[in-house]
Amino acid sequence: MPTVGQSVRRNDAKSKVTGEALYIDDYGYEGMLHCVTLRSPKQHIKIKKLNIAKAKKVPGFVRLITANDIVNEIGGKNSWPLVIHDYPFLADGIARFCGEAIGLVVAETPESATKAAQLIELDYEELPYVTDPLKAMEGNAVEIYEGEFGKNIFSHYKVRKGDVERGFAESDVIVEQTFTTGFQVQAYLETQGMIGFPESNGGITVYGSMQCPYYVHDAVVAATGLAYNKVRIVQRCTGGGFGGKEDVPALLGAHAAIAAYLTKRPVKIIYSRSEDFISMSKRHPSWVHIKYGAKRDGTILACEVKYVLDSGAYSTLSPIVLWRGTVHAAGPYRIPNVKIDSYAVATNKVPSGAFRGFGQPQVCFANESLIDELAEKLEMDPVELRMINALRLGDKTATGQEIKESCGLVEAIQKVRDASDWKNKFSRQHPTSTIKKYGIGISANYYGVALGARGRYLDRAAAHIQVQPDGTVIVAVGNTEIGQGMRTVLAQICADSLNAPYEMVQVLETDTTRVPDSGPTVASRTTLMSGNAIIDACQTIRERINQTAGRLLGVSVDMLHSSNGEFFSNEKKVSYADVVKECHKQKLQMTEQGWYASPPTSFDENGQGDAYVTYTYSANVAEVEVDTETGEVKVLKITSAHDIGKVINPQTAEGQIEGGIAQGIGYALIEELVEKDGILKNPNFTDYILPSSCDAPEYQTILLEHPYPAGPFGAKGLAESPLIGPAPAITNAIKNAVGIRLTHIPALPEKIWERLKREKEENL
Ligand code: MOS
Repeated sequence: MPTVGQSVRRNDAKSKVTGEALYIDDYGYEGMLHCVTLRSPKQHIKIKKLNIAKAKKVPGFVRLITANDIVNEIGGKNSWPLVIHDYPFLADGIARFCGEAIGLVVAETPESATKAAQLIELDYEELPYVTDPLKAMEGNAVEIYEGEFGKNIFSHYKVRKGDVERGFAESDVIVEQTFTTGFQVQAYLETQGMIGFPESNGGITVYGSMQCPYYVHDAVVAATGLAYNKVRIVQRCTGGGFGGKEDVPALLGAHAAIAAYLTKRPVKIIYSRSEDFISMSKRHPSWVHIKYGAKRDGTILACEVKYVLDSGAYSTLSPIVLWRGTVHAAGPYRIPNVKIDSYAVATNKVPSGAFRGFGQPQVCFANESLIDELAEKLEMDPVELRMINALRLGDKTATGQEIKESCGLVEAIQKVRDASDWKNKFSRQHPTSTIKKYGIGISANYYGVALGARGRYLDRAAAHIQVQPDGTVIVAVGNTEIGQGMRTVLAQICADSLNAPYEMVQVLETDTTRVPDSGPTVASRTTLMSGNAIIDACQTIRERINQTAGRLLGVSVDMLHSSNGEFFSNEKKVSYADVVKECHKQKLQMTEQGWYASPPTSFDENGQGDAYVTYTYSANVAEVEVDTETGEVKVLKITSAHDIGKVINPQTAEGQIEGGIAQGIGYALIEELVEKDGILKNPNFTDYILPSSCDAPEYQTILLEHPYPAGPFGAKGLAESPLIGPAPAITNAIKNAVGIRLTHIPALPEKIWERLKREKEENL
């Protein structure tokens, strides 16, 4: 039996359940110092002076590090190399958001570092600020950033397909609406943390919690001026990321490295929950205006979207988040005329960035809400409208990309329709006399797997495989385990590629000195990219294993059968372990490096091209109960179908889907980060409410396999898609239940209650 397709036990389960797993704060070194970050207290300030006279008297105080020290004492660059290099490692003269790092206080203990930081007197001048992205785009706005697209615009994209004016003119029905979404916090259980360690060769090793070691590598090299081969980044067991440990750990990694470099001692930085909240990235608040036009029979003829992301004070990953959102903004439909304009805008707020879904959940909330409005205006079942327009093989996406293979969208919609008993439930006359009203709603979405055309050269990955004398296998890859199950799924792929038992394969924690830059662990790309790199590495080893097995059995390789860790021919068999032992005896090379580079992608100045290598398709049906007296919504059930090409591990896949839905429920109904004038009011888990087990609905997950020929065993990617669809399915269900269209999420009970009250008064 192959292990691919089986729900083998996760290889990291035991260590995490028993507490044996070591996270960054569990590590310490002789002579280690501790670092606390000094932060801007206001939205926009000019830093005049830092007085450390009082801080110096704190026992254990070692030193303060500022922007000046990076440049003059180290000779590094005070500029984080990401997409646009606008974010300094430490604020230099101006700080542009409340919580921005302006200094690092290093001391013998965390307590003395905290105490000293409190005693540093910051002399500053307040500057005018802007927090509304629509205002920040206006000519007279305060300037935070100036670039090629104009004031405060980090990034702008266009998609132009067909002729939208004509499309709307030929439409029988037109709907349009503005939708907005708030922040969402990744809420990984482990806060950000890093240790910088000075090595005897003059280099620095950084250990920490992260998704993307190579991004940290780039940042540490920039900040310290060290050569790439003197910097080593090692990922420690990471307690969740969800995008929140994509880029921003590079900031802490650089800080830890700078401090270790200057003090020549190991330095640990562990963020408190509140500083993690105020300074780390979140899901961008958004503003979307969207318009659809369709013929009476439901054929969508045109879609026009204006999409604005509130990016905060620095660009970080906003240009890429915006691009992903732009590509998918018209929805997973065949639409001949599309016009999309999108903007990532600077405001004096904490920078927003990567969060599972990466610019898609915001715009999907808008397009999938409006599709339901279109269905209503057409007097059509929303499932039927989606079925008519859903992308199928041979269709073209909004960027003009022809879908040539692996498209399970229609099946996903059909499956959730049938599994949820949609036909009976949607049209059913629900009792109107009771306080609690039942509703059902659907959404559909697609997700471009991996980095796509804006991923530059990054969409490639390496794997290093060593088959040990006893047959056990060590796998090193450049992608990381962040709770998603990477080490399990890749071990399965490796085991089947070698015909080794799954238990004999160990996937290591990621270390930049073991394998070359494999891009980031993001964009639901790891199974595809690292999986293919493993298959590539295993291929020649497998040939040697097969030949040796054939020799041991006295048959040619083509007479050989293999399965479940054994090789057979006729009546004879030999175990994988014995074959490997013989390979080593014969001095065969049992270690290889594999490589996978994605096929080319494109996106021209009109937003046309093959944006991504392939897409994952999904559909969600939400069933809710709305309490009309309190505005509370209980999500009763989510039925969720996903075409992911090939299911490598069903249980892990279901876990991904259920987790994504839980976050989607939080996004739709519960999670509200309150910001006033750029200052966060509830930066903690007491006041920022997350969905709990009490909010969990009944989950019904449906896994579909439309194989992607270039994927490992046909697999595409799954991780992010499950969080994209639930929010609009839920708000569509609320509309079905009580007749109100929510145009902002989170749809808190008080907002729903107010709407219901207003509606009632208007109807009197
Ligand atoms: Mo992700 S949001 O692509 O880490």
